[in-house]
Amino acid sequence: MDLVSWARELSCQVLAVELPRRWAHVQGVAYRARIVSAVLPGLDGDLLMAAAYLHDIGYSSMLAETGFHPLDGARFLKEKGVEGRLCALIAHHSCAYREAELRGLSAELAEWTDERTLVRDALWWADMTTTPDGEKTTVHDRIEEIQKRYGPEDLVTYFIRQAKGELVSAVERTESRLRETGVDYTAK
Ligand SMILES: [Fe+2]
Repeated sequence: MDLVSWARELSCQVLAVELPRRWAHVQGVAYRARIVSAVLPGLDGDLLMAAAYLHDIGYSSMLAETGFHPLDGARFLKEKGVEGRLCALIAHHSCAYREAELRGLSAELAEWTDERTLVRDALWWADMTTTPDGEKTTVHDRIEEIQKRYGPEDLVTYFIRQAKGELVSAVERTESRLRETGVDYTAK
């Protein structure tokens, strides 16, 4: 089985029944990621798609350990023998290092390096422009929604406020790259 199919199947197995809304989100993120993967070299495109499917598997109770989903997802994949670059994309998706700081898990997350590439930006873009139900949104609306959903006193709300600048930058870099290549990312 190819990497992307394997990632889709694994994610479906751990999320679809227990966390159907999260699974809907993940499918939306993969849909968005496909727009970018089409303009990336094959290996990077596949890596982006696999990361899109796997980025939130750490929410599943089947594999949660620390309760910090990027770390739990990356650790689970590492144990399964998944290559380091894919684990690192999961570990660092959507500015996870900032939430790790707030949770006292920076040392644990430092096992992986944030590659700061177009692939990484595209994963953040897809995650940050997809609603919890898997629909298209803007990064600003997404950040607003997260703050409302978690409430003013929640650690996630503190995190998303701190991360906003970096999240918006990754989204803008991805969208300007898509515009340069003539790809319409504004349709559903
Ligand atoms: Fe996500």
